[in-house]
Amino acid sequence: MDLSTTHSGTNTFDPKAIRAQFPLLERDMNGKPLVFLDSAASSQKPQVVLDALNHYYTYLNANVHRGVYTLSQEATDAHEKGREQARAFLNARSNREVLFTRGTTEGINLIAQCYGQAFIKEGDEILISGMEHHSNIVPWQILADRTGAVIKVIPVLENGDLDMVAFDRLLTRKTKFVSVVHISNSLGTINPVKTIIEKAHAQNTPVLVDGAQATPHLKIDVQALDADFYVFSGHIIFGPTGIGTLSGKEKWLEAMPPYQGGGEMIKTVTFEKTTYNELHFKFEAGTPDISGSVGIGVAMEYTQQLGYEAMQKHEQDLLHYATEGLSQIEGLRIIGQAAHKASVVSFLIQGTHPYDVGTILDKLGIAVRTGHHCTQPLMDHFGIPGTIRASFAVYNNREDVERLVEGVQRATRMLL
Ligand code: ALA
Repeated sequence: MDLSTTHSGTNTFDPKAIRAQFPLLERDMNGKPLVFLDSAASSQKPQVVLDALNHYYTYLNANVHRGVYTLSQEATDAHEKGREQARAFLNARSNREVLFTRGTTEGINLIAQCYGQAFIKEGDEILISGMEHHSNIVPWQILADRTGAVIKVIPVLENGDLDMVAFDRLLTRKTKFVSVVHISNSLGTINPVKTIIEKAHAQNTPVLVDGAQATPHLKIDVQALDADFYVFSGHIIFGPTGIGTLSGKEKWLEAMPPYQGGGEMIKTVTFEKTTYNELHFKFEAGTPDISGSVGIGVAMEYTQQLGYEAMQKHEQDLLHYATEGLSQIEGLRIIGQAAHKASVVSFLIQGTHPYDVGTILDKLGIAVRTGHHCTQPLMDHFGIPGTIRASFAVYNNREDVERLVEGVQRATRMLL
């Protein structure tokens, strides 16, 4: 599986010291010490990222790629340093292949619109999976409505794995694009994206990987994966909101029309005709989120320095401890028990509504997400309205798991 691309970090892994780097985790919530178990929705930020954002606005703030003055040059250098950090983080071939977006959602929309406009025609099939986030469903539906393309869906098995036998059947000569999630936000399933890419490439079909949930847990190497497009969000990997990264192969980005028109993405403009700037500028109209690129760059470097191997070991311990503890609770059903899982536990308690359990947990200072997690088709597939989802990040510990299990026991007693 794709965990083989892990590497060791440079620092000694000390969970207690790591947790102390996240000031928000010191907060009380409803009179109790906060237990934050919603990192799949948005992670907390380490001091080093907070400092970088503050430093940017305090000392470097100016528009980029525009000014002859030194301050603008310094801001440009900080912005482009973020891009180089993203390139190194993903092992992309060049900075021309690294675009900044507002996040995973914009990255997928950009590809659906621009790749779609260039290459997708009536009757072409776009293959996604049954565990996609809405942001990897709706952009393709919009494209299908515009072009007459057809969406096909790889089914999900009862344990939360993708049905790879069905994938083999669904991948046909008509399949002109594949877009799949690397790690499911609702189930935690780690999908075999390398295999999916190899099989799709065997018939010249490009693949987009939604890496929103993968980047905080798995070392990503877009060249080793041979992904045509890889997208993720800053805010899930300890960085700021409103910034994300799209890595795309130059041959596709060159062949695609621009996403939006405006400043910076042009070479020349007359009222008769505009010519477009080179990559990466062609896809980055307008003043970028400069503090965002600074923040996401620092966040990626921070994550790499933690070391993926040690992080995975820590998170897998939390996953198993939580799975074991929660499984003891009568009437509790875990949704998604794939063999290769990231640190996400989605569950339901017979006779209770996820929202009610989540509300009681909140009163106990425990933050979890409840509902469909922007994966309504997946919830429909399991015949459930939603789940209670606890998602663990590197800063969580066994005490957090114990508080969760105790909280769920208490909620169950109150509600049943
Ligand atoms: N919608 C994403 C989640 O919470 C961010 O899973």
